[in-house]
Parts: sequence; structure tokens; C-alpha cells
Amino acid sequence: VRLIIEGGMPLKGILEVPADKSITHRALLFSALAQGKSTIEALRPGDDNHSTAKCLRQLGVEVIETPEGWQVRSLGCKRFTAPHEVLDCGNSGTTIRLLTGVLAGLNIKAQLTGDASLSRRPMGRICEPLRALGGNVRGQKIGSKECPPLEIDLGNFLGGTRRLNIASAQVKSALLLAGITSGTAVKVSEPMRSRDHSERMLQSMGAKMKTWEDGDGAWVSLAPNATLTPQHVKVPGDISSAAFWLAAALMVEGSDITVEHLGLNPTRTGILDVLESLGVKAGVVQGTPQGGEPVGSVRVVYAPTRAQDLIVGGPLIPRLVDELIVLAALFSQSEGTTEIRDASEMRVKETDRITETVHLLEAFGVQAEERDEGLVVKGKQPLRAAHVDVKAEHRLAMSAAVLALAAPGTSILDNFEIAEISYKGFAEDMQRLGARVRVEK
Ligand code: S3P
Repeated sequence: VRLIIEGGMPLKGILEVPADKSITHRALLFSALAQGKSTIEALRPGDDNHSTAKCLRQLGVEVIETPEGWQVRSLGCKRFTAPHEVLDCGNSGTTIRLLTGVLAGLNIKAQLTGDASLSRRPMGRICEPLRALGGNVRGQKIGSKECPPLEIDLGNFLGGTRRLNIASAQVKSALLLAGITSGTAVKVSEPMRSRDHSERMLQSMGAKMKTWEDGDGAWVSLAPNATLTPQHVKVPGDISSAAFWLAAALMVEGSDITVEHLGLNPTRTGILDVLESLGVKAGVVQGTPQGGEPVGSVRVVYAPTRAQDLIVGGPLIPRLVDELIVLAALFSQSEGTTEIRDASEMRVKETDRITETVHLLEAFGVQAEERDEGLVVKGKQPLRAAHVDVKAEHRLAMSAAVLALAAPGTSILDNFEIAEISYKGFAEDMQRLGARVRVEK
């Protein structure tokens, strides 16, 4: 799919973005662990979520897609059947890491793989702690790295305590899930609190958990013998998807965008903190929380942004880790210089997001300086239209679209179908907001 975008048109309107990808993965997976029927309402879920649904079907769980989302009928995780074929997690890091945790706590043999991008991503971060607690999980060694395909054999997950040296919701969740499926107690700390969707949903399904903070960082503990009850959940919109519109509204003069029914979990709203630092008054209206998750609407009206030697780093990073590409684009149009630091995690996402962001910005005529653990972006740089291939990954593709919306002239984006990993209907939403965009298939 090729997108041809005329830059400079103001974006106006009210919209809902697709269901939160992280929460939807968990809704599917956790429903499958419970015995009985669960229903999940999720707007326009992307390809990654479908990878999770497909893997669950291979484990003997009935997952039926409905116009609203899914119906999940399960006999409970103890009755999962060993898959006949390899579980293909596609492009989805959350699918492979959370599912590995689930299976490590059961007595099932399985293999998990993914596409070329996922096959290069580090899995030692889940395999090592799972093994340390008795799980029988192994990846392929690529140099010192452990990567997919992953092999899970009959193990004896015993539970216990782990101190993680990275803030990762995927790693934390993998350990908690192994605790759930094995019936053991698990205690995990991370240096900074990462997104807590697993904790919220598992508790709403009946698991007993505690969270606290001390010198080791942010802790979560799971009591043994958790039994999950089926759920009905409505998944809010994904702030990581809304981020493209919030940034675009601040990069194209005359814009005024409101995103409704948006997830506003404080472990995910780092972008709103950054907008405040840029002098933007986003209109946030809190609504009724759903399934333990805060929900509301956010309105952004165009105004010049001022970075004033802003540093984005530390505990803010896990709260906006997936928004850093589009934020770098926004920083190139703000007044002042911005440094993104403490963000080495960007290098191990779907692609190396530090190098790729610098390349993308350069394609649109903007200079950025690559650092080991981040990048430095000087503001107020003129944009020029570009022709780029965005196949490397979904969030890079949509960030390219935002740059194209702000750049004067005609930009061309090739292989834009990759955006469907997390955002179905992105180009249609662009059109709805008044952008001049043509889609060629
Ligand atoms: C996710 C956690 C984050 C995030 C990813 C989704 C999740 O990854 O980047 O897109 O659903 O738990 P890490 O846990 O690796 O930080």
C-alpha cells in the first residue's frame, strides 16, 4: 500500500482510535486462562492482537471474532492442549513473551516463533528469569543473545522472587503469568514501574496481588493458587495510537483534534507530561473507568511548542516508550533542543528505533544526533516532503505519515500496510480529519 500525502492541511475532528494493543493482548490471554466464557469489546484490533488469538486457538481455546471484538470460551489453562504446530507470534513481542510465561508454568511442550523482526529480538530477558524459577524454556543463541524460536519443555516452575534490571511490562507479566498457571507465588521488582495492565486485569479477575515501592524499585507480588474468573471487558483506545494525532495537531497550524474513549492509565500517559513541558494545555476529561483502567478524552489545539532544552529520560521513559519516535518528530518542530536519554530499550523494539528515527527525520530534511541510549533533536527545522519506504515497522510508518502531514508538498510512503500491526484504518482516519491523502493498493 502506498500513501500519497499533501502536507499542510489542518487536521480537525473528533475520533476514537483502535483498542489498546497491550490491554487487548491481555484480555484475550487472561480470558483463555479462566474456565468459562469471556467477552471482549475491542475496536479495530490490529494484526498483533490477531496473532495472540490465533496462538490461543492452537492451544484448544475457542476464540470467536465478533463485530464487537471476541468471545473466548475456555476449559481453563490446565486443559490447554499441546499445539501440533509451531505457535507463530508474527511481529508481536507481547504475544511471544506473555505466552512463554503462561506455558512455562504449565506442563506443555511447545515452540514459539515469529517474523524476521521478532526473530532478532532478545528473549534472554524472559528465558533467564523463568529458568531461574524452574521453567524449562530455551531460545536460539545468536552470539550472546537468546532469540526465537523458543522451545518450551516440561518444567517445574516453583515461583519465587526476581529483581529485574530493566523496566519491562512484558518480562514482569511473563513471570506473573507463570505464577498464575503453576499456582505458585511470584514476587518481581523492576527499577521503575512499567505499564501495569496485567496487574489491574488479573486482580479484576480474582488474583490476589500487592504492589509497593522501596530501594529495589517497584514491586509486585502475586499470592499462590490464583483462580481467574471469566470476564467481560471493554478495551479503551490506545494512547500510543492517539499519540500520532496529538503530535500532528501540534505540527500543523490550525489543527484541533479530540480523541475520545482513550485509555489514560498513569503508567502510559508520559506523553501528556511531555506536552505540558512543551507548554501545551491538552484538554483532558476523565470519564468512567472501565475494567480497572482510567478512560477519558484528550483534545489538542494547535499552538507553537517550546522545548526549552528539554530532557526526556528516567522514569518517564517506560511511560512513553512507544511514543518516542513521533515525539522526536514533534521536537524537530518545537522551539529549543530536546534530548531523549535512558532509552536504550528503543534499540530492541520491532526495529532499532534510535537509528531508524534519525534516518526518518533525515529523509524529511531534519538533522538529529544519535546517542547510545537516545537522540538529540534540534527544534524549528524546516521540513521537506519525502519519498520513504516504511516497511521497517508500524510506529515508524505512522510517524512518517505525521511528518508528511506537516511537510509542505507531496510525500510518498511505500509499504504502509505495516501500520495495521497496531492501527487498522489509519489512512481513513487521516482522511476523516481532513488530510489530503490518497491510498494506492
Ligand atoms: C508492552 C510493553 C512494552 C511496549 C510494547 C508493549 C506490553 O515493551 O514497548 O509495545 O504490552 O507489555 P517492554 O515490556 O519490552 O518494555
